Amino acid sequence: MRTDTGQVFRLEDYRPTDYLIPQTNLTFRLSPEATRVTAVLTVERRDAAAVSAPLVLDGDGLKLNRVEIDGKSVEQADLLVTPDRLTILKPPAASVFQLTMETELAPAGNEALMGLYRSSNVYCTQCEAEGFRRITYFLDRPDILSVYTVRIEALRDEAPLLLSNGNPIDKGDIGDGWHYAAWHDPFPKPSYLFALVAGNLGKVADSFVTLSGRDVELGIYVEPGKERLAGYAMDALKRSMKWDEEKFGREYDLDVFNIVAVSDFNMGAMENKGLNVFNDKYVLADRETATDADFANIEAIIAHEYFHNWTGNRITCRDWFQLCLKEGLTVFRDHEFSADQRSRAVKRIAEVRTLRAHQFPEDQGPLAHPVRPRRYREINNFYTATVYEKGSEVVRMIRTILGSDAFRAGMDLYFERHDGQAATIEDFLQVFEDASGRDLSQFSLWYHQAGTPNLTVSSKHNPAAREFILEIEQSVPPTPYESRKRLMHIPLAFGLIGAGGEPVAYGGVEGASVEGGVIHIRKRRHVIRFSGVSERPAVSLNRGFSAPVTLSVEQKADDQFFLARHDSDAFSRWQAFNTLLTDTLIAAVRQTLDGKQHAFARRLTGLAGDIAGDETLEPAYRALALGLPSEADIARDIGNNINPDAIHTAREALALAIGSANREAFSSLYEGLADKAAFSPDATSAGRRALRNTLLDYLALSPGGPALAADHFHSATNMTDRAAALAVLAHRHHGSHEATAALAAFETTYESDALVMDKWFQIQASVPGYQTVETVRALTAHPAFSLSNPNRVRSLIGTFFSANQIGFHRADGEGYRFFSRIVLEVEKRNPQVAARLATALRSWRSLEPGRQDKAREALLFIANTENLSADLRDIVERTLA
Ligand code: TRP
Ligand code: ZN
Repeated sequence: MRTDTGQVFRLEDYRPTDYLIPQTNLTFRLSPEATRVTAVLTVERRDAAAVSAPLVLDGDGLKLNRVEIDGKSVEQADLLVTPDRLTILKPPAASVFQLTMETELAPAGNEALMGLYRSSNVYCTQCEAEGFRRITYFLDRPDILSVYTVRIEALRDEAPLLLSNGNPIDKGDIGDGWHYAAWHDPFPKPSYLFALVAGNLGKVADSFVTLSGRDVELGIYVEPGKERLAGYAMDALKRSMKWDEEKFGREYDLDVFNIVAVSDFNMGAMENKGLNVFNDKYVLADRETATDADFANIEAIIAHEYFHNWTGNRITCRDWFQLCLKEGLTVFRDHEFSADQRSRAVKRIAEVRTLRAHQFPEDQGPLAHPVRPRRYREINNFYTATVYEKGSEVVRMIRTILGSDAFRAGMDLYFERHDGQAATIEDFLQVFEDASGRDLSQFSLWYHQAGTPNLTVSSKHNPAAREFILEIEQSVPPTPYESRKRLMHIPLAFGLIGAGGEPVAYGGVEGASVEGGVIHIRKRRHVIRFSGVSERPAVSLNRGFSAPVTLSVEQKADDQFFLARHDSDAFSRWQAFNTLLTDTLIAAVRQTLDGKQHAFARRLTGLAGDIAGDETLEPAYRALALGLPSEADIARDIGNNINPDAIHTAREALALAIGSANREAFSSLYEGLADKAAFSPDATSAGRRALRNTLLDYLALSPGGPALAADHFHSATNMTDRAAALAVLAHRHHGSHEATAALAAFETTYESDALVMDKWFQIQASVPGYQTVETVRALTAHPAFSLSNPNRVRSLIGTFFSANQIGFHRADGEGYRFFSRIVLEVEKRNPQVAARLATALRSWRSLEPGRQDKAREALLFIANTENLSADLRDIVERTLA
């Protein structure tokens, strides 16, 4: 194993640069194998810098053809040039000079998808976080804001469309079949927001009039022929623009706003100023090819990238340690947008499920880091659930503590005070302190301290004294580099509920500050006394998931059943039912089910039936409630010595019990939900489909199940129903002729639609069973599969790792052997995607000892490979540490 662990970047080492680059002029002469980039930078020495200070520019694998200062070529002796760095040893004494550089790139061979690359013959760029240095030498860091003017030259036949950031200023012919276009972006921006797109694309055009009456031309560019699939994305964009005006007072600021969909993309999408680039999976949709989940994701991601225009672009990050400043805040904004567009309760439950599925295991394993990390080796590996999702929860807690009005005042101050700047988390917290007069210093630990806090809660009622007492104790587990933790400020929303379901009024409170239904936990232990409470109430805790913590509550099952029926907080009501399901499943895994618990299980299956049929609840909510905790959820809650086989068995048994106890009720509900109206992707219609498909999953376990699912599949009139039925067949009745026929029919119908084939790969990769690793291996040779395309890799391989607990964690280690080989295969092409895949084993220490050994071997196999990329080495070494 190599001992050189690469350079570590530390927050405390931040220093401003000696030079600034107020203006950047770029000329691209595009060609697949040899694109020439001429960069003319206006370089300005800061007043504080020494006149002789060398200028050190970042590069990454660059080939430099020429370098000039103020129009004169530079002496070799005055330069240090490597592919990864350009040092001007003796810059001119003048405080401003012009640096010209010509670099040469081969976009066609760029499989890492960072910098300038080709996706289906379209030239495109991805510069966040450090991709701009693969285009030209630069001060490639977010605190260097520059005004960009870009000229693109290309063969008109090859690239009729030429796009960059900002507004178009010029275009024309150059002769010999070449043409050009020029773009100017008046807003100073960091290099990571630079973008260029050139190629042959179809356009969907629309327009938007801003609050102050300015006209904005909107364009969504897609593969020619797919224009009709961009309608939903365009609608989501216009709704996002309007919403940001109404809810945050934020208006769009350029004459044009363009979105381009590409099929090879490392992440979801990118907020480049005025020119967002999207993974086409998050743009293209119609009822035939996209599921309701796809529509919801498109809406959320379109909004997310659009909202970055203010939170990220107008106000950017001082350095990459501050990534959550833009990401956590922008996720919070897109969550609020979706909550307003759809159902707030359903959205909140879905958010919490995602947070628990992705962020909790990160925070509880070897890759744990604070929302604002203090150190990194590879910044690409810090685009994490902690930075994004926990970062959003932290913003939500600020709003909970301040109230909506003071929160909005703080946001207004943030925009006013920091517009045009590269800011920090300290700046962000300061605006809320200034706007509210509150002290957020203890609260700020949420940014600085990793780990999921736990609250241990117990309660007592003293009828004689008419007093209700809550005892709450906080603890934060140790995480890498942080063995000792400080006490946090945790806003815990709660409610006391009387026997009739009504809120219980209390006289006074002692032992903690309680305001507006929120207990402010600040000490290790609080004993909170509510006076004037004559009957013992049920307690509803962490309402709306006000804080991203785990709770250990000593609470009777009767109370949980009561809350699952009566809690007026929709989130907590869902939580109560989900806790009952989880507790039952864990007892089954531990085989501690006794007579009492069997009675408990019967009560639970009865409650499941009641929730399913409760017409006062939205169908989408009922679907979420009836969806059992996933095998990974159960494993996480068990915490150690995990045997995935036992979890699978327990979960299947509970599904069967719920399904058979409610067969008739589920069946008639299922019939009643069949949609007769025309398809609409709206949340209400989607909710009905979700409930019907959840019921199908239960009904498929009964006699006649395969035929029912096959009928559902063949009569489906949209992808949501078709894919759901295919998953039910493949997962519940694998190998049946119904399943085999449906898989084959789906393949034949969609073999040339890559995004739909992703669903086919996903469904097969998640077939529970030991044999699936062989299926997945075989499917890597399928004509629709490609190890170079991130969407394909994530669908087939990523899904196998994350959604197939018993297949991936096969006791004989075959899943892990496949893991190490395939991660290394992907890494040859795309280190960033390989590193992400490799996080699948981050919880390996929670497995039972036999699997632990085999998982460690697989990780060591990767760690011992020569010439690992920084991305993969970082993940594997931290995972093993
Ligand atoms: N800033 C992007 C977002 O909206 C994230 C992103 C897109 C990204 N592509 C990337 C980050 C490539 C790193 C590398 O969240
Ligand atoms: Zn983002």
